[in-house]
Amino acid sequence: MFRRWLQPLLNAQAVWADPLGDVFQRIFRTVYSPFPGLRDLLHGTWLGHPVHPMITDVPIGALIIATVLDLAGQPIAATWAIGVGLLGMLAAALAGYADYIDLEGAGKRVGSLHSTSMLVALVLYVVSIGARLGWWPLFAGGAEWTAGLGLLFVVVGGYLGGELVFDLGSQVDRHAWRGGGTKWQALDIDSVPEAKPTKAKAGAQTLVVVRRGEQIFALHDTCAHQGCSLSDGKLVDDGKRIECSCHGSRFELADGSVNRGPAVYPQPHYAVRRAEGKIEVKRTS
Ligand code: FES
Repeated sequence: MFRRWLQPLLNAQAVWADPLGDVFQRIFRTVYSPFPGLRDLLHGTWLGHPVHPMITDVPIGALIIATVLDLAGQPIAATWAIGVGLLGMLAAALAGYADYIDLEGAGKRVGSLHSTSMLVALVLYVVSIGARLGWWPLFAGGAEWTAGLGLLFVVVGGYLGGELVFDLGSQVDRHAWRGGGTKWQALDIDSVPEAKPTKAKAGAQTLVVVRRGEQIFALHDTCAHQGCSLSDGKLVDDGKRIECSCHGSRFELADGSVNRGPAVYPQPHYAVRRAEGKIEVKRTS
């Protein structure tokens, strides 16, 4: 019910959110591009889990506590809580923008709205903490209502962040619902060209297969990051890894583990054997 009027409202923001998203993405691509290791750290590639949603609990919790403390007449404790909230917001923003630069279409739009809400909240909380610390004496009376308004933007931003994940699937493993394979299945091709990522079917699944000499490797073709086809990618690092053509994630051919983000989840890997002139595969992970 709520979504019936929310969706047109979100779509109507395209007129400003899409161009703003272009600018934000350009800025953050420029900032992050020279530091691929930092990007992987912020994505959560090292952890096998997105970092941004883990950090957001800190500012949301601290800023809710600040409002409770304001209502309870505890201004000093509220100031500390806002300080913690602001530090948490900055850390969450660093990780969030690393994920945001790869978004497209509706995901980019909702990501831009989410980020704008959080930036407005950040500014309001900076104004609020400044008023509490006496940075702008003429605005001393505005400390509490700016914090209250900031919390409203945090709630809206949090809702939009949830929309981005649960409705649009941002940062969701593209293989989350795919069960492990239990039996061998024949590929629909009988030969694989040397060192060339090749698309092949095994029953309903589409795989990318690579041959290096006598050895054949097989991974699921759908990139765990945002669903591009790995068979459009290229082999790197002496043919040990495959790189996705969309955002450059790299996966080990030997076991599907992530070597480089933005992907944080491994690629389903298949064991390969030859049987009666056919190539057969079975999912191992
Ligand atoms: S879809 Fe983004 S790296 Fe593959």
